[in-house]
Amino acid sequence: MKILVTGGAGFIGSHTVIKLIESGHDVFIVDNLCNANEKVLGRIEQLTGVAPAFAKVDIRDREGLTAVCEKAAADGGFDACIHFAGLKAVGESVAKPWEYYENNIGGTLTLLDVLRKNGCKNIIFSSSATVYGDPEVIPITEECPKGHCTNPYGQTKSMLEEIMMDMQKADPEWNIVLLRYFNPIGAHPSGLIGEDPNGIPNNLMPYITQVAVGKLAELGVFGDDYDTPDGTGVRDYIHVEDLADGHVKALQAIEAGCGLAIYNLGTGTGYSVLDVVKAFEKANGVRIPYSIKPRRAGDIAVCYSDPAKAEAELGWKAQFGIEDMCRDAWNWQSKNPDGYGE
Ligand code: NAD
Ligand code: UFG
Repeated sequence: MKILVTGGAGFIGSHTVIKLIESGHDVFIVDNLCNANEKVLGRIEQLTGVAPAFAKVDIRDREGLTAVCEKAAADGGFDACIHFAGLKAVGESVAKPWEYYENNIGGTLTLLDVLRKNGCKNIIFSSSATVYGDPEVIPITEECPKGHCTNPYGQTKSMLEEIMMDMQKADPEWNIVLLRYFNPIGAHPSGLIGEDPNGIPNNLMPYITQVAVGKLAELGVFGDDYDTPDGTGVRDYIHVEDLADGHVKALQAIEAGCGLAIYNLGTGTGYSVLDVVKAFEKANGVRIPYSIKPRRAGDIAVCYSDPAKAEAELGWKAQFGIEDMCRDAWNWQSKNPDGYGE
């Protein structure tokens, strides 16, 4: 298939682009590079032997997106879009709500309109477990009611899901897959591509790898008084390679004419912050000093998926365990202490 990948230069997008190329798909990346480095394109070429088509286009730029679609129309147009582009820092979204709504919601509305006007009504959307809020039932199935999102970032995911559901209801020609990711970590096993956050990382694994590489002194563990076995927060960490595979499988659902489909992408196993620290130390033989800090505002105690629906309907199941994730995250960070650099 010919696939438009928005945000394809980012962390999850770049790993997915590699899987798409390896599966024989034809990829066109649009990314405004606000949270990515163009060097990733060379690394993708190095790994796949294919230089992915790329345009530095903002998804809010209707003319730019239209030009990309019109160019693709010369050989049949896009069969589907995988839509990763968006801002994703929870704390920043609290400080800059307008910027988050404008970029994520405004950008997606423009993208959806340009796609349909250019004859492409197939889309896979990067949603998040954050839409469940503080879940009432664990493990979380897709049937669990959506919850209250405590931050504008989460609201954008939840609202965009609603918008796309309404559009699909009104126009059943759309095939829309909403993928609710749990906590993606790890990196490509080559160590050539990985997560490269700006500034001090917000998320656990990049923080740990930066402690391991000596850029940060110690990990702060946000709270040890949750109602969990060791008191620290429990999450469903998923290897980014498995997550990338999930998108290739979701394309098959699109091809089969799925209408609207929603899937959790997680492993179904929860690990606490201290479990992850121990797994990292065991996998890599590197010590991670840490100290207990107060709880982080907005955090929940436990969040892990029931991924049975994705297995039953997409034939997708996570293959990698927590030590693989820790090994590959460290392989990337140790080979690229400054990420992609300047
Ligand atoms: P990322 O920041 O690495 O990738 C997002 C990409 O989108 C970046 O390359 C950025 O430059 C680009 N982008 C942002 N706004 C854009 C715009 N207006 N026009 C064009 N490009 C734009 O993030 P990621 O971790 O790869 O996440 C990808 C998607 O998955 C995001 O939508 C994110 O919200 C979602 N998601 C991520 C996680 C996670 O923990 N990483 C969890 C759940 C959902
Ligand atoms: N944590 C620490 N110290 C840190 C960073 C995190 O103790 O320096 C803890 C958190 O308190 C939490 C766990 O590690 O218990 C995981 O935190 P992350 O920030 O890595 O991930 P979150 O579960 O908070 O959120 C992430 C993304 C969201 C996404 C969600 C989906 O940041 O965008 O996963 O489950 F929506």
